Amino acid sequence: MRPVVVVAEELAPAALTQLDQDFDVRHVDGTDRRELLAALRDAQAVVIRSATRIDEEAIEAAPGLRVVARAGVGLDNVDVPAATAHGVMVVNAPTSNIVSAAEQAVALLLAVARHTASASAALKAGEWRRSRYTGVEVSGKTVGVVGLGRIGVLFAQRMAAFGTRLIAYDPYVQPARAAALGVRLVSLDDLLAESDFISVHLPRTPETVGLIGARELALVKPGVRIINAARGGLIDEQALADALAEGRVAGAGVDVYAKEPCTSSPLFAHESVVATPHLGASTVEAQDKAGLAVARSVRLALHGEFVPDA
Ligand code: MLT
Repeated sequence: MRPVVVVAEELAPAALTQLDQDFDVRHVDGTDRRELLAALRDAQAVVIRSATRIDEEAIEAAPGLRVVARAGVGLDNVDVPAATAHGVMVVNAPTSNIVSAAEQAVALLLAVARHTASASAALKAGEWRRSRYTGVEVSGKTVGVVGLGRIGVLFAQRMAAFGTRLIAYDPYVQPARAAALGVRLVSLDDLLAESDFISVHLPRTPETVGLIGARELALVKPGVRIINAARGGLIDEQALADALAEGRVAGAGVDVYAKEPCTSSPLFAHESVVATPHLGASTVEAQDKAGLAVARSVRLALHGEFVPDA
């Protein structure tokens, strides 16, 4: 019998072709808990993206499980200590979608600055309203990057090309490294006070959840525009909606939500919010890279071979 690989979310066709060669690939909807737990009973590997929760219950439901493969960057939906305690290897593809994620943040920033989504929706509804959608230039503005890791750096490099002044908050980055990138490191409070645009680029951890809440949003430069294409929960959605309602925040680009899938949020009431359904990694290129990287790791792991970093 061929080992069973449960694919719980959409995976690039090239990756599925690879897995199909050696394994009995079974597709399930990872957000359907009952379906997932039932499928895991026979699984030697499970492949997920960000929507499937692999917690202790899921790991215990899978007595033969040897590898959890996350086709993407973060591991916040995997209980890594529980997996390790059960002898289950956890692999991901940490660089597969960093360019796509950075590009999504840039796309949202520009869309927020120029009202692209609402102007398009209005025009398609038959309204030609140029003055209503006057935007702002990005050139000459201060852009605050919260988190100067791999994606934050790619975002900063792209924003530099727009002629912006870049500042960043990241307690783990040395000022010399930031300076080499043309970025000045500041405290979070200073970043909030000085930025015309803020974009967050952090993993979701107990330390980062709620990092930008009501207190922080009270400190922002009036008229700031805020982007989150990183992880839901880093910015408190209700506090951001309140700041938008008060006009302190002029607009927001939001790709990720505290609870996903998300079809209702206080943010959706605001025309100045550009909202997308967690599409940061959803490009052909990123999905090919992530899918092929984890397919390779699953094959190596289930063949008992050394699994190098993806
Ligand atoms: C990631 O963490 O790499 C992405 O959020 C994955 C995804 O799009 O599901």
